[in-house]
Amino acid sequence: MHLGNYLGAVSSWAELSKLKTDDSQKLIFGLADLHAITNKHPKAQDFIDNKMDTLAHLIAFGVDPEKCCLYIQSDVKEHAELAWYLSTITNIGALARMTQWKSKSGQDETIANNELSTLQSEFSLGLFSYPVLQAADVLLYNPDFVPVGEDQTQHLELTQTLARKFNHIYKSNVFKYPRIMTTPAKKIYSLKDVTKKMSKSDKSKVASIYLSDSDEEIRLKIKKATTDSIVGEPFKFDPSKRPGVSNLINIVAGIQKKEISEVEKDMESLNSHSELKKYVSDVIVEWIAEPREKYKAIRQDTEYLKKVALKGETEARKIASENMKKIREAMGF
Ligand code: ADP
Ligand code: NA
Repeated sequence: MHLGNYLGAVSSWAELSKLKTDDSQKLIFGLADLHAITNKHPKAQDFIDNKMDTLAHLIAFGVDPEKCCLYIQSDVKEHAELAWYLSTITNIGALARMTQWKSKSGQDETIANNELSTLQSEFSLGLFSYPVLQAADVLLYNPDFVPVGEDQTQHLELTQTLARKFNHIYKSNVFKYPRIMTTPAKKIYSLKDVTKKMSKSDKSKVASIYLSDSDEEIRLKIKKATTDSIVGEPFKFDPSKRPGVSNLINIVAGIQKKEISEVEKDMESLNSHSELKKYVSDVIVEWIAEPREKYKAIRQDTEYLKKVALKGETEARKIASENMKKIREAMGF
């Protein structure tokens, strides 16, 4: 996991689990391993290791498995079953319009239509239809709210459409209408190319800060971060004029859970880009020490991780199997 995953997703899930006040509220988080194979197919052992890394990161960086249901998607077989049922009521056109599909499959306005269909024919059906699996991930638990980042609203709208359509076709009220809860998530950009979001698929060695990076690696990456050559002006959040600097300000604001204006104020005394970078590095290094240590300890404790996964599986399957029974009944299975 990288800093973008943390500031864009994990930190708001951690906040939500702190907000949970009573037993009538349940938070459910799935580690989406069925989704992870839509465009790559790691060796079995690497895949298992990866999942344990992710589980340990989620816990170490604030998702408390005691306070919420944290499970591994493939442990609950109903996800795949429901995805199939939903796929039969999903329009291909709706999937083809998904902006994530368009960008992941390389669709670009400059590509001619015939070239495009050749290009897209090389991508897997799973990548194309993953919003249907995502809809199943949600609807299987009949949630009131789905906390997602801005970039997922289009997929959640499909989820809502499918819930309505299923209820209509099967004259049932099996599915509740899940509401989108847009989390105040931050979008973090690559440290190298500020036009791209920070991503694990980025090949550059200095574009992303990983949550297990050492202090030295973090300092080096921030030092090499693309900024600008504007001098004699205070550091202000201005993504169009100063994208690199704004990205760094945004990172600090996210980590410190402060308003941008507060961070700008804190940075008033900084006189150069190197001072800014040292300031940003200090903030990250100071914050990351504790969760990174926790991560290392948890990651080694395979028994603990297995216990967490089993607890999550048990809780998730209870809800999923009850709902699945109603879904099958409504359909005549
Ligand atoms: P990646 O792009 O590195 O493959 P994922 O697609 O696995 O990341 O995203 C996992 C979660 O992290 C999603 O909720 C996504 O919105 C969030 N996320 C990923 N990259 C960023 C980023 N650069 N800034 C903010 N949030 C991000
Ligand atoms: Na991705």
